[in-house]
Amino acid sequence: MFNIPVIIGSTRRDRQSIKAGKFVHSELSKNKDVTTELVDLLELDLPIMEERLRFRNDAPNQVTQFSRMIQKADALVIVSPEYNNGYPGVLKNALDYLLPEYERKPFGFVTVSAGSFGGLNCLAQLRLICLGMGGFPIPESLTIAKVQNLFDEQGLPTEPLLYSRTKDFLDEVLWFTEAVVNQKNKKKQRAA
Ligand SMILES: Cc1cc2nc3c(=O)[nH]c(=O)nc-3n(C[C@H](O)[C@H](O)[C@H](O)COP(=O)(O)O)c2cc1C
Repeated sequence: MFNIPVIIGSTRRDRQSIKAGKFVHSELSKNKDVTTELVDLLELDLPIMEERLRFRNDAPNQVTQFSRMIQKADALVIVSPEYNNGYPGVLKNALDYLLPEYERKPFGFVTVSAGSFGGLNCLAQLRLICLGMGGFPIPESLTIAKVQNLFDEQGLPTEPLLYSRTKDFLDEVLWFTEAVVNQKNKKKQRAA
């Protein structure tokens, strides 16, 4: 089984990207080889980072909880809206708490915007910080434009193409997850 949490990078009032995040999470959870959970930064409510977790002995419980979720992940999916060509500060605040937890893990990015470009600028930034964190940004992405029109009241896509685009994206997340996990297992076996 591969553990692939979905991080929701928006805590904004009336946030729209939660719809994309819940849909991607629900599609991912249909895969019998995957365990997944929603890591909602709104619920986690992490304080402003004063220092990285590994240099603290007084870390708040939510930070430790966040670390555990990322530590046991084989790969991560991050859902992020685009704010002023970038990603939300609340997401960077959360990510900066950790480092070894990300090492050599594939990252798939879902970016969301109200406009027509689906968050391409924040996607580029997320890929860059992913490298800084020691992760592998996968080539495939899921960019979601005009998010406010794309989901119905049940949270299902109003645009059928979103199903196949999400499948293609998640298939790639799975491909890289399996490749990296296999390699890590091979290394462990050799060392044993
Ligand atoms: C502070 C802020 C900045 C934004 N900047 C951009 C932007 O640069 N490009 C864009 O396409 N949309 C921009 N938007 C629109 C958001 O992409 C849109 O509101 C989307 O729903 C945000 O996700 P959220 O609802 O989960 O917060 C911005 C929205 C906010 C709140």
